[in-house]
Amino acid sequence: MIQFHTPHYPTLRKADRDLLGTEGPELVRPYLGLWPDTRPTPLLSMPEVADAVGVRQVLIKDEGSRLGLGSFKALGGAYAVMTIFRKRLEDHLADTVSVAQLITPTARKFAAGMTFCCATDGNHGKSVAMGARILGCRSVIFVHEGVTQARAEAIGADRVLRVKGNYDVSVAEAQRVSAERGWVLVSDTSWDGYEDIPSLVAQGYTVLSTEALSQIAERSLQPPTHVFLQAGVGGFASSIAVNLGENLGHDNIKTIVVEPERAACLYVSAKAGRLTAFPPAEPTIMAMLECYTPSLVAWRILDAVVSAFITVSEEDARHAMRKLAFRDEPIIAGESGAAGLAGLLAATGDENVRARLGLNETSSILLINTEGATDPASYENIVGLSPERVLQGVMPAGRIEKTAEFKFNRKGDRP
Ligand SMILES: Cc1ncc(COP(=O)(O)O)c(C=O)c1O
Repeated sequence: MIQFHTPHYPTLRKADRDLLGTEGPELVRPYLGLWPDTRPTPLLSMPEVADAVGVRQVLIKDEGSRLGLGSFKALGGAYAVMTIFRKRLEDHLADTVSVAQLITPTARKFAAGMTFCCATDGNHGKSVAMGARILGCRSVIFVHEGVTQARAEAIGADRVLRVKGNYDVSVAEAQRVSAERGWVLVSDTSWDGYEDIPSLVAQGYTVLSTEALSQIAERSLQPPTHVFLQAGVGGFASSIAVNLGENLGHDNIKTIVVEPERAACLYVSAKAGRLTAFPPAEPTIMAMLECYTPSLVAWRILDAVVSAFITVSEEDARHAMRKLAFRDEPIIAGESGAAGLAGLLAATGDENVRARLGLNETSSILLINTEGATDPASYENIVGLSPERVLQGVMPAGRIEKTAEFKFNRKGDRP
């Protein structure tokens, strides 16, 4: 399903542009110095996909190794935790505090009395817990009943509390309990009256798009004309879309939002012309995108910058994961990580969509693999091999590469 949308960049608020534009990553980077591993993530070219779908270039930023946490989310939650902590410490000491001073014995003493909290599908909670751990604060993370045991255990928080119900219910529960206990809620989704902290989380993500643009410039590649961004509540897509638009000029890049058809809250919002919740029915394997209510700030931004909202099926996501795995240079993508590629394949398989979005042999596509195999058992189940075996270049038994079948079909059939 696709909902075309007319962007109206002039309605983007100055505050959102300032937060997520060219200055955004400059504010985030000093905090990255507190992490043990701050190497940039790779930007890879996928010429076989470009060929198959009839565009000039497909680039993919692989966030699977980001800060050792397995997803781009490492950049957001931890940064928000550190920024909030710094402000609280400055108020407490009635003095300015540098980033380096956030881990001094004085800071640690203050940190011992602070607890950070959030709801998560997995990746955001991992980031919040890591930020708290680096500082010496406590973390309590809420997960809903659909989060697999493997993902819950990987969060690494002091406490992980399981809530009956879906993601939206866990968000409400984290809000209620944190208010009751005086914990600091670092949510990646926003609502009326709670916008500042999710905006900080989104600012953290801008590091990755700016890094991708530097890598593109260093290698003298064509800058992206289209970016396909997978969305849960929309914080990620809004952040990257604004950052790319502010860097490249909003008229020079089209943003396409990709959601699972089973949890398409932004798609239904675009259709309705206002923020709208999606009625939950069946869970999706794209677990990190399983959100039924858009983030208020993200919707406001996406409404101003997006050219189309498209949905992908469960099989589309599985196909994209395998496509990323079985290539000369394998890319390990979890179900949600592969959704951007699934969106590109869906869009380019339809003549009308290609024409409306100007997807042709001059187009340069940017995709972001937002996560690695964050649930290795589920990855192996879908791909047929463990991430380690895929990286060794092994092919699953019985697999026949059907390149011809995948080739872009000029009649407009979906690959
Ligand atoms: C791997 C991955 N991709 C994409 C998203 C979507 O981000 P957002 O919920 O900000 O839209 C998430 C969110 O948790 C995620 O973990």
